[in-house]
Amino acid sequence: MTTALITGATAGIGAAFARRLAADGHDLVLVARDGERLSAQATELHDRHGIEAEVLTADLSTEDGITAVEARLSQPRRPVDLLVNNAGFANKGRYLEVPMADELTMVKVHIEAVLRLTSAATASMRGRGRGGVVNVASVAAFVPRGTYGASKAWVVQFTQGAARDLAGSGVRMMALCPGFVRTEFHERAGMGTDNIPGWMWLDADKLVAAALTDLARGKSLSIPDPRYKALMGAVKLAPRGLLGGLTSKTGRKYGPQ
Ligand SMILES: NC(=O)c1ccc[n+]([C@@H]2O[C@H](COP(=O)([O-])OP(=O)(O)OC[C@H]3O[C@@H](n4cnc5c(N)ncnc54)[C@H](OP(=O)(O)O)[C@@H]3O)[C@@H](O)[C@H]2O)c1
Repeated sequence: MTTALITGATAGIGAAFARRLAADGHDLVLVARDGERLSAQATELHDRHGIEAEVLTADLSTEDGITAVEARLSQPRRPVDLLVNNAGFANKGRYLEVPMADELTMVKVHIEAVLRLTSAATASMRGRGRGGVVNVASVAAFVPRGTYGASKAWVVQFTQGAARDLAGSGVRMMALCPGFVRTEFHERAGMGTDNIPGWMWLDADKLVAAALTDLARGKSLSIPDPRYKALMGAVKLAPRGLLGGLTSKTGRKYGPQ
């Protein structure tokens, strides 16, 4: 039996990882801020799949929250075999409209927490000669898109660099880059979604299935849908100015849904 720790497990992509990994027989450590929601989820996954699901309530924008999860990842007697750094959010507004405190919270959750949790997990995995880390980034990593895109670009670069450094150690690392996924993400950020074409939406369960296949294949970067693979191929060729104009509008309509 292996154990997976998932951050941001209460909703969206993190909850889809929890469902899929529980169905595959993994024990789970579920991390997020909403303890009640986590406990209900842990009970449901235990009852449905017979796995053990621990709840670890932690706010990853705080020192205490990050330290608590680092400590769990470093426990030698209850090793974590797969870490999914998924917790994340969008801020409402463009550059200079977002309060600096919110920008810094994003840097803490998307960058500092990912760096520290990945390092705690992989140090222990390397010692055991096996393990995996999935860091959830975004296709926004490849386009100019404020602090959000910049933080996700860091996730991609960090993960691919660390994957190289750990090659041969038995530890796999992969950056997962979803396009638009139907979750609580946009509503939480107060983003309208009516200017996002229907074909651009992905299903969280299918996304997770494709991501786990890519991880098993040893990929360090996963863009798990042919539509987005093609789009990201075009993005590489598009002039930066045109790209900035398009990407700063799509999915960035702030206001009522
Ligand atoms: N949805 C998309 O279109 C999309 C596209 C590309 C990438 N992504 C990325 O996918 C990841 C998951 O997003 P989602 O779409 O599944 O969003 P979601 O439905 O809003 O879920 C976000 C999860 O993160 C947790 N979280 C947020 N802030 C946290 C904090 N400070 N500490 C601990 N947990 C925190 C939330 O739980 P609590 O509120 O209980 O803490 C929740 O479980 C994010 O990294 C996001 O950037 C999403």
